[in-house]
Amino acid sequence: MKKIFTPKSAICISAALLFGFKSVNVNAQTTAETAKMNAFVSGLMKKMTIDEKIGQLNLVTGGMAITGSVTNSGIGDGVKNGSIGGIFGLYGTAEVRKMQEAAVKGSRLHIPLIFGLDVIHGHRTIFPIPLGMSATWDLDLIKQSARIAAKEATAEGLNWVFSPMVDIARDARWGRISEGSGEDPYLGGRIAAAMVRGYQGTSLKNADAVMACVKHFALYGGAEAGREYNTVDMSRLAMYNYYLPPYKAALDAGAGSIMSSFNTVDGVPSTVNKWLLTDLLRKQWGFKGFVVSDYTSLNEVTNHGLGDLQTVSARAINAGLDMDMVGEGYLKTLKKSLQEKKVTIADIDRACRLVLEAKYKLGLFDNPYKSLDPVREKNDIMNEANRTAARVTAEHSFVLLKNDAQTLPLKKAGGSIALVGPLANNKRDMLGTWVIGGEWEKSVSVMEGIQRVVGDKVKINYAKGSNITDDTTFMKRLNFGPGMVSLDKKSPKDMIDDAVDAAKRSDIIVAVVGESQSMSGESSSRSDIGIPESQQKMLKELAKLGKPMVLVVFNGRPLTLQWENDNATAILDVWAPGTEAGNAIANVLFGNYNPSGKLTTTFPRSVGQIPLYYNHLNTGRPYTDGPTKFKSNYLDIDNSPLYPFGYGLSYSKFEYSNLKLSKTNLKGNETLTATVTVTNKGQYAGEETVQLYIGDPEASISRPVKELKDFKKLSLQVGEKKEVTFAITPDKLKFFNSDLKYDWEPGKFVIEVGTNSDITEKASVKWLK
Ligand code: BGC
Repeated sequence: MKKIFTPKSAICISAALLFGFKSVNVNAQTTAETAKMNAFVSGLMKKMTIDEKIGQLNLVTGGMAITGSVTNSGIGDGVKNGSIGGIFGLYGTAEVRKMQEAAVKGSRLHIPLIFGLDVIHGHRTIFPIPLGMSATWDLDLIKQSARIAAKEATAEGLNWVFSPMVDIARDARWGRISEGSGEDPYLGGRIAAAMVRGYQGTSLKNADAVMACVKHFALYGGAEAGREYNTVDMSRLAMYNYYLPPYKAALDAGAGSIMSSFNTVDGVPSTVNKWLLTDLLRKQWGFKGFVVSDYTSLNEVTNHGLGDLQTVSARAINAGLDMDMVGEGYLKTLKKSLQEKKVTIADIDRACRLVLEAKYKLGLFDNPYKSLDPVREKNDIMNEANRTAARVTAEHSFVLLKNDAQTLPLKKAGGSIALVGPLANNKRDMLGTWVIGGEWEKSVSVMEGIQRVVGDKVKINYAKGSNITDDTTFMKRLNFGPGMVSLDKKSPKDMIDDAVDAAKRSDIIVAVVGESQSMSGESSSRSDIGIPESQQKMLKELAKLGKPMVLVVFNGRPLTLQWENDNATAILDVWAPGTEAGNAIANVLFGNYNPSGKLTTTFPRSVGQIPLYYNHLNTGRPYTDGPTKFKSNYLDIDNSPLYPFGYGLSYSKFEYSNLKLSKTNLKGNETLTATVTVTNKGQYAGEETVQLYIGDPEASISRPVKELKDFKKLSLQVGEKKEVTFAITPDKLKFFNSDLKYDWEPGKFVIEVGTNSDITEKASVKWLK
């Protein structure tokens, strides 16, 4: 059994309990606070038996989030006898209180539990999936989404969230690309930090703060062939320069915990990887929080071929893994390993101390019930303000991929629209993956949103037009929860006929198509990343009518949209927008909001081009144009992506001109400024994200053709012109060299400023040391 994302109401849980917390930089405690905490934790640990210490390292699932074939039982007893340190997948003030009381009143040392959950893009009020949220390039909105998620999560008794997921991904086949912020380490790092700050708030002790858990450490997004849980094999240079920065950024922002990944890192599974969990994480990066395994990832080390449960558990505690999720490897084997001298008491103490410290930082020892407030539970969840924030964030996340003849925005009065497609009158698929607390019944469909904006001023002719998929084998795989995808009673042909008929009666077609909820996320890799065939068939029939056709595309990953790009008049990519989907989509379609989202992952033309990402190295035989033989290219397809990283249109037209550099020859620790003028030449006020890239063509190692180094979001009225300036210091030129030394090297640098990674204004400088 894989992930189950079931609304709370549909779940049967026996018991539960738990607590409150706080947040923010766990490394930023004052010396006095740290001394106080150390004294408290040392005092407590002196009273603890070895079993109680090992119990603190045991994290069990309460059943509301099951993402593997194993679950836990006997939780109530475990809490009372001190063999459980925390519970995840259990929320609601009544359930949490019950469990927390069992721990605090019923266990020998009264140690509170920590309550965690996968709160990934909102708790009850669902925001766009993280990949969509990253397309806002708006750190304030992203931070706000995490803040609201924290408020809602704490209002239901939680104090720990398994987020942010910061895995860099360059392979759209991998379903979990939906959960991250795309392919760029710089943007990924900025977003990771914003999320941590949003979750943890100003203090972990606040009743509305949750401790963040950065995941999945490390390199989980590098799975070979984009296949879930697959092997990762990568050079240290690639790790340090491209994949590790977002984890580091999240920890530097103060994240209190981190989760080990399922994959191997340099041949050793992360969960038992001493280099990763101790040398890098603790010694190089100075991390002071605790490390939790992923769901049974410790037990799975046996499948990786490193020995039985006792062996791998001993190895994990030695390597630096503190808490064991679900698999009970620590619970069942650590005492024996201690007796057999395979582990030391010092390692068990270290792990126990770090878990207790987290609880201390969260204020749980002061008040284990700090966020268990039924009034907050009633008022702070899914209120108007939260829904508004979710809608605004969704509007900002949409990426306009194509807009021929200014087809969008649509007119709010007059004429008729054929609204077709399996996602048009659909609530279930609005939320996207990882929505354990999400209630799809409360989401707004596209149809509802459109009706709200146009009322009866525009005639809407609706037809479903196709199933999500007609392929019943595929459908079975998608249905890991009840009723997620189903076949309509009508035949596929009749459905297409209905859509064609609706289109014939209308001036314009709006087809809402793409991926359903379970087509991306964990354990949802795809080898074909196009719009499913059933939907394509419908689109092909509609295209024959020669009417303007707008596609609203739902997707948890970059899709291959070559045919759609060639045949549709306009394409709006809406990812999975969350609870307020329909309202946000209607606002953008009808021009209440001018789209401003930009892609954070490259969209390939074909799966065969993957991995395709903008910050690639040059080759010795780069293909630009001209003769193709003996150049790095394909016989049957262009090298270029369909839509590059950073791409996204607006209803306005932004013109870039006059890139000016303050100098072209620099030395040492100077600051270079790059200024460009951006003018709104369109008919609408709008927002534009101006992007700064730097190329380093003269270095000791081969460097990416360009790398994102900064960005700024502007609002421009019609006809308005603004100058945008970036300050560039040598810090922006640094990278890890062959000795893994982080430094910059003198030589030529190419400064690019533009609207996306492909279309930029360029100038070069010489920068010497
Ligand atoms: C996922 C994690 C998640 C955990 C707990 C695992 O399968 O990889 O991201 O936090 O389950 O639900």
